[in-house]
Amino acid sequence: MKSISSKNWSIDRAAELYGIREWSSGYFDVNEKGEMVCSLSFSEESKPLKKSSKKGAVEVPESLLATSETKVNVSLVDIISGMKERGMEMPVLLRFENLIEDRLTKLNEAFGNAIKASGYKNYYRGVFPIKVNQQAQVIEEISEFGSRYHHGLEAGSKAELIIALASLTDNDACIVCNGYKDDEFISLGLHAIQLGINCFFVVETLSEIPLIIAASKKMNVKPLIGVRLKLASKVDGYWSSDSGDRSIFGLTTSQLMEAVDQLRAADMIDCLQLLHCHLGSQIPNIQNIRSGVLEACRYYSELRNEGVPLGYLDLGGGLAVDYEGAYTNSTHSMNYNLDEYCADIVEAIIETLDPLGIEHPVILTESGRATVAYSSVLLFNILDVTHFEPAPIPKELEDDASELVKNMHAVLDIITVRNVQECFNDASHYRDEIRENFRRGRETLRSKALGENIYLAILQKIVVLLPQVKRISTELENLPESLADIYYGNFSVFQSLPDSWAIDQIFPIMPIHRLDEVPTRDAILADLTCDCDGKIDSFTVDGLHRKTLPVHDVKEGEDYFFGAFLVGAYQETLGDLHNLFGDTNVVSVRVNSDGSYDYVKEMEGDSISDVLSYVEYYPKALTERFRQRAEKAVKSGHINVAERQTMLKNFSESLGGYTYFEK
Ligand SMILES: Cc1ncc(COP(=O)(O)O)c(C=O)c1O
Repeated sequence: MKSISSKNWSIDRAAELYGIREWSSGYFDVNEKGEMVCSLSFSEESKPLKKSSKKGAVEVPESLLATSETKVNVSLVDIISGMKERGMEMPVLLRFENLIEDRLTKLNEAFGNAIKASGYKNYYRGVFPIKVNQQAQVIEEISEFGSRYHHGLEAGSKAELIIALASLTDNDACIVCNGYKDDEFISLGLHAIQLGINCFFVVETLSEIPLIIAASKKMNVKPLIGVRLKLASKVDGYWSSDSGDRSIFGLTTSQLMEAVDQLRAADMIDCLQLLHCHLGSQIPNIQNIRSGVLEACRYYSELRNEGVPLGYLDLGGGLAVDYEGAYTNSTHSMNYNLDEYCADIVEAIIETLDPLGIEHPVILTESGRATVAYSSVLLFNILDVTHFEPAPIPKELEDDASELVKNMHAVLDIITVRNVQECFNDASHYRDEIRENFRRGRETLRSKALGENIYLAILQKIVVLLPQVKRISTELENLPESLADIYYGNFSVFQSLPDSWAIDQIFPIMPIHRLDEVPTRDAILADLTCDCDGKIDSFTVDGLHRKTLPVHDVKEGEDYFFGAFLVGAYQETLGDLHNLFGDTNVVSVRVNSDGSYDYVKEMEGDSISDVLSYVEYYPKALTERFRQRAEKAVKSGHINVAERQTMLKNFSESLGGYTYFEK
């Protein structure tokens, strides 16, 4: 790591240290006050988009592309002040509506541009997979902002299909139904068709086909059917098992043939219009995407040759987010950008289908994380800090100090750059001996405390000298991390950043102010759950993976705020109630082109009563039980009636309170 020196410190250096300009895709930066800002570009007033000749296809008007842009920066600290005035306490999940809109625009325009540049003869239709963020506010925003591109929704269950049916108002948008489907699911989808919605059933298993055939005959509705392929192409990254022969989902080649035969026998082959594949989420390597698309196109062309009237190619999700800002093919990064993704898909289809004279299909993708990850930031405050620093050590020890403690003390005086390893070995030996003697009753508690304090002082001295040491052993290499501070944040990893715990996902997490000050400390973050897994100790710092994060000293009486960025995808949905920390407060902000912003939506997080009811405790019953206890205590003389009343009042107020730390 580059040394963090106060001499050349600047906000640009802060941006570099935390990699802001690498992971933020231009949506976040630092202002001259050292505060994190959300950065948005506004073009001249949006003009209505014109329709092309192709049914429902959208072209981006030249006039819109050519307009000049104004950049607007909104400080997250200012937003927090406004939230506080409105009574919203930390932690808060802050959503920027504009970022959902911008991501939808970028995705659709990037495909539009790739289609135009390559002479592709069909259009793009995106669908947002509801499972990635099912929150009503998010789906409403996607339906509203996406309608200008006829962006639809993907549903993986009956509940999600109900959301899609109630949210989408645009009949040119598609609904794609993945997941296992029962009769009820199928009836709902057929109702969508009756309403004129392009609702596709994607067949995941052969057993769904007879159900679809029977229901559509019974309701006299022609369904739109897709088949999900099990591709042989494998992808890098965490979700590699979603692809390849052993993937759980989709039909094998022989099952695909059987599906075609069954539909043909039922005189419904004309319903089979869509070919679907999903290689995995967060695909970091563009080459994997290209080879997956090429393979899917081979199936497409063969099925067309068999007389299947396919017209849609759905390539699933997988467009990655560069959480590390590394621009590599490592798991939490990506080695391509959005334009390359779209161009590669379009070119791969043209390359395979043109030589065979097969018409270009409508391209669908189901990008989830790339659509919503940027829009949400978890904001939280630091509540407390543990420093691993020794208490002051006397220059001379008392005569009656134990021999081992005296030996340890002697080590402290002789450490130099040349003997750090030797001193570390000796000190560790004395510390172990002191512990052993304590166990056997030969060392007192005070003597053990003194010995361990001197040991800590030795380690701290070694850490300071380490940068000058040429060859460092692994145990010394890990020393700075083992002595890092612990900053306790007002949040729950399990509720708000579950992927950080479950799959070691790296999120950009950093202080959101004081970035004009050099961070003088190194820390890991602990949450409120008192669980040893409730911590974050994996960060990208100066472009490298590190177990600790450079942070500022916490100042007495001052708030110190952190942001966990790119948390809009999967985190809200997967979060759980570990230790009964519930949903956080949510605030949605809309930034205007003059730099002002509106608090468009506010949703209070779960109260204690709410989370208790999720695990089947009923506040009224709990209050009654507590009342009985208190009454008993009055009877036995432990408390008086006035005290009982105060207790009951506090109990009832607690039930209505926020599950997180409140000031
Ligand atoms: C079928 C399907 N489509 C789309 C997605 C969304 O993927 P991503 O968030 O990577 O775009 C997933 C997620 O795994 C999925 O299973």
